[in-house]
Amino acid sequence: MSGNHTHRNGSFTSSLGFVIACVGSAVGLGNIWLFPYRLGQYGGAAFLIPYLFFVFLFGWVGLSAEFGIGRLAGTGTIGAYEYCFESRGKKKLGSVLSWIPLMGSLGIAIGYAVILGWVLNSLVGSLTGTLMTAEPAEFFQAAAVELGNPLWHTVVVLAVCLILMFGVTAGIEKVSKVLMPLFYVLFLALAVWVAFLPGAGEGYRFLFVPDWSKLLEVDTWVMAMGQAFFTLSITGSGMIVYGAYLDKGEDIPKASIRTAVFDTMAAMLAGLAIMPAVFAYGLDAGRGPSLMFITLPTVFQQMPMGRMFAVFFFVSVLFAGITSLINMFEAVIESWQSHFGLGRKAAVLICTGLTLGVGIFMEAEARVGTWMDFITIVVVPIGAVLGAVSVYYVLGWPKLRQELQTGREKPLSAMFGAVGKYVYVPLTILVVILGFVYKGIG
Ligand code: PFF
Repeated sequence: MSGNHTHRNGSFTSSLGFVIACVGSAVGLGNIWLFPYRLGQYGGAAFLIPYLFFVFLFGWVGLSAEFGIGRLAGTGTIGAYEYCFESRGKKKLGSVLSWIPLMGSLGIAIGYAVILGWVLNSLVGSLTGTLMTAEPAEFFQAAAVELGNPLWHTVVVLAVCLILMFGVTAGIEKVSKVLMPLFYVLFLALAVWVAFLPGAGEGYRFLFVPDWSKLLEVDTWVMAMGQAFFTLSITGSGMIVYGAYLDKGEDIPKASIRTAVFDTMAAMLAGLAIMPAVFAYGLDAGRGPSLMFITLPTVFQQMPMGRMFAVFFFVSVLFAGITSLINMFEAVIESWQSHFGLGRKAAVLICTGLTLGVGIFMEAEARVGTWMDFITIVVVPIGAVLGAVSVYYVLGWPKLRQELQTGREKPLSAMFGAVGKYVYVPLTILVVILGFVYKGIG
């Protein structure tokens, strides 16, 4: 490879390694407990039109911008904003603003870790069999109360801490290369498995029979846009740091589109694995925690070989979630290493300590719900706006263009800059406004 810089944390060894790590970040709870329900609720196959439009638009000009600025600056969140604002003689302002997206990453990590603790709790319950005989709602509510799940919550965070100690090449890339392929294989197996359940057809009908009239409703477009944003992990933070670890010889727009493609495949697979099973047992499909921790366990208890199905399911959700958590942590760790001159181990430990120290008091469902709403409705979208504006306007398109052309044989589309500046940036602002109006769209 024609590398010309290696970050001190290491770097991705190939474009495949990079894309898998980015897919690891993108594929998470959003794909599993949100997308399938939205697909059905907002018009089935018809919803795919706005959804695919936004995913590819944001993937193309949004993800590319985050990767590009990371690689150009050679560093993650704090350093990348400093880099953009330095070009206008306002480095300090960049530094101050960068804390908003950075706190978005840390904030989302704190809540995500609590939820993954519940996933591990359900996995353990499936392995030991207790989840198969318990009343699912009671089983979940026993863990989702204050200090209800400290052990599994801690285990998840420590696992991520351990992986990150190994750095980018031996930690993030290696682990993503194992966990992500397993996620796809397991979910594919689940999707085939449920196809044989009597009554599964209702689930496919829910997912795919198009209701074209939904395309005329504003909500459909708003939800498709919010979903696309969240699922691609566009936060003005996490994807920037992965870009910093990318070799100059790699084609960024191509990697961005690949990330969007694999992320969409994961979302479709999740729909195909979950909804036919839910409908086969005549249950109400919902979304969020109730779908994952109550409705699905009710299904697992009734279906043949349900315990094994439950194990497969919770293992793969855990894999998808851990690779997302890794990305949120890395944004914070790298920034603190470079900003405060901390060693990697120290930065990893501080981030781990904060995630657990704050998160441990947030194990009650209502509390973590309020927290996640605040982070995903307010902090993260504002971070995404800051990222987009910093790259397209503060640094400016000509410099981004040069970076995105580096490592690419074909010339960039002539429309790229205009779409970024006049379509993407305004849409990021719209996401913030609509998030407030709808009380959450991502
Ligand atoms: N894309 C993830 C999901 O769909 O669940 C969520 C996410 C991951 C958001 C990483 C932000 C982030 F930095």
